[in-house]
Amino acid sequence: MALLGVNIDHVATIREARKTNEPDPVWAASLAELGGADCITIHLREDRRHIQERDLRLLKETTTVKLNLEMACTPEIVKIAIENQPDQVTLVPEKREEVTTEGGLDAVGQRSLVESTTKELMDAGIEVSLFLDPIEGQIAIAHAIGAAGVEIHTGQYALARSATDKQTEMLRISKSGEQIREAGMAFHAGHGLTYRNVKPIAQLEGISELNIGHSIISRAVFVGLTEATRAMKALVSGS
Ligand code: PXP
Repeated sequence: MALLGVNIDHVATIREARKTNEPDPVWAASLAELGGADCITIHLREDRRHIQERDLRLLKETTTVKLNLEMACTPEIVKIAIENQPDQVTLVPEKREEVTTEGGLDAVGQRSLVESTTKELMDAGIEVSLFLDPIEGQIAIAHAIGAAGVEIHTGQYALARSATDKQTEMLRISKSGEQIREAGMAFHAGHGLTYRNVKPIAQLEGISELNIGHSIISRAVFVGLTEATRAMKALVSGS
């Protein structure tokens, strides 16, 4: 059975839209834990568009489940990761102009950077997973450089519309899962997973962690909106 990692970046995105102190992703993490999250995932981006260093620091103190930090291979963020000691780092590619992470890391093309970053984090006692597209050559590099796990990018699967395209993407992901497990690494997956498309991925042989953000936070808005309006209505109407 896969562990559920809840990505709370989007809570911080709403906070940063007003540069205020709510909603606090640290509260979000506690509520996600109460709901059964096995892991809290955050992405500290170079441009700090959502998660801030303060969030990482407080989450490290307060989270009682696994804390997974997504980050790019840059010296500044590596230093912050080592200072804060999350349980796991997932190395991701990062472009300033992207709305969200658009694809897996190019471990083949950037092998020396990915390898030295992985080694530095591992030497500091942090487990490292690489976010990769379901491509054999990429996964082979993760194994060669000693990564503990691979998170397969499920974005293409999530975008597939026809039954044939969905099946093709599922096949690529399940083959990658086999390769990852045979190499002795942990098989994770994430990106674009929703209440509608998650089941076949969650049922894959040996999958151990799913990281899901946008869909859960989107659902939370609707699940909570009636109650939130009711509470404000009570204040406005003086009851
Ligand atoms: N995994 C990784 C590596 C990501 O970069 C993201 C997005 O931050 C996710 C999982 C979660 O994706 P989504 O928000 O589409 O569920």
